Amino acid sequence: MTNFTYHNPVRLVFGKGMIAQLRELIPAGVKVLLTYGGGSIKRNGVYEQVRQALAGHEVVEFGGIEPNPRYETCLKAAALAKAEGAGFLLAVGGGSVLDGTKFIAVAARYGAGDPWEIMEGRKPVTEALPLGAVLTLPATGSEMNTYAVISRDSTGEKLAFGSPHCYPQFSILDPETTLSLPLRQVENGIADTFAHVMEQYLCAIGRAPLTERLAEAVLKTLVEEAPKVKARPDDYEVRASLMWCATVALNGLLGCGVAAEDWATHMIGHELTALYGIDHGRTLAVIMPAVHRYQLARKQPRLAQYAKRVWHIVSGDEAERAAQAVAKTEAFFRSVGVPTRLSEYGLDAEEAGRRVAERLAKRGVTLGEYGDLGPEAVRAIIALAQ
Ligand code: NZQ
Ligand code: ZN
Repeated sequence: MTNFTYHNPVRLVFGKGMIAQLRELIPAGVKVLLTYGGGSIKRNGVYEQVRQALAGHEVVEFGGIEPNPRYETCLKAAALAKAEGAGFLLAVGGGSVLDGTKFIAVAARYGAGDPWEIMEGRKPVTEALPLGAVLTLPATGSEMNTYAVISRDSTGEKLAFGSPHCYPQFSILDPETTLSLPLRQVENGIADTFAHVMEQYLCAIGRAPLTERLAEAVLKTLVEEAPKVKARPDDYEVRASLMWCATVALNGLLGCGVAAEDWATHMIGHELTALYGIDHGRTLAVIMPAVHRYQLARKQPRLAQYAKRVWHIVSGDEAERAAQAVAKTEAFFRSVGVPTRLSEYGLDAEEAGRRVAERLAKRGVTLGEYGDLGPEAVRAIIALAQ
């Protein structure tokens, strides 16, 4: 195992009826900026619950944070936070609202200069407004991590940043809020959660036996629960299980003692979203099996472990078991209802590969657990996703 420090300060408040706890969780006497997306919270009753719980607080609102939150929109919200003297941000929605609000928190406290410098990694985050969250879509893990992914219209970029200043002080997760999700978002959330675990787990460098078992537990739970949510969409217990999986998948726990993480799938996926508008979770289902096929030899021992422990594959030699495991991953995504091939989006892999490789090369980015996948590898991976 490698050395690690694990510190996650997010107070997680989980379960039915827990939104009422906002009353105590938000510090008294501060003006709250309530941020939300395109209006789902007004249709499913979450907004009402939040406003009731905030009855004793002074609140201003900013709605309209888009899926794949836009920098331009976040800047408007930051200006509002400054003008209103907001002392606390409350994000109510999915990963996009939470991510947007993290960036708003930083931008509202940013001195001279353009806060996009943070996204480009040219400036560190030194402060942010405090924030809390009411999560309505299990997928990103944003509720319990430091990361945010922001898109910029003028340049067509989609970039990620992370800072300990962006941990929510608390996140409320009421699985009942997820009952109103369109099926497509449920599918996206399962694919994203599965991919987050795999990015940290599926690298054959070093050993972290307990962390590996924890990762496998999340994968197995997803495999068991995914068909249930489709068969019984109103089942609270299944929704609760999926929500907890998504949080554990990307709250730092599954990186403890792990020598190297992959994230090639996510880096390529973000480019596909930026270029073609494909939902985040859906890009991952296309690219992850291709990354694993491209890296089959290097990842073989861990793929064989995954084959045995998650899919109970024991026949064949190690190479065969590894290949079967990749096929299982792809079949799982398909069983969830998420396409796994670029052609299903009407895209040509050669063209997409060239564009994605160019964009990553321009930023000097190389990918994978060895950090050695350059433009040629990116094109080859995307070709495998045709
Ligand atoms: O905008 P509203 O009206 O709220 O509707 C949203 C949106 O249209 C809707 N929705 C959310 N909760 C709902 C609901 N509809 C009905 N009932 C509910 N309970 O769902 C749509 C998608 O929401 P969005 O927040 O965009 O989805 P998700 O949570 O999947 O977030 C995706 C974003 O997170 C980033 C992605 O790149 C993408 O920008 N990621 C963030 C990460 C992080 N912070 O750690 C890691 C991830 O890998 C990912 O990159
Ligand atoms: Zn993701």
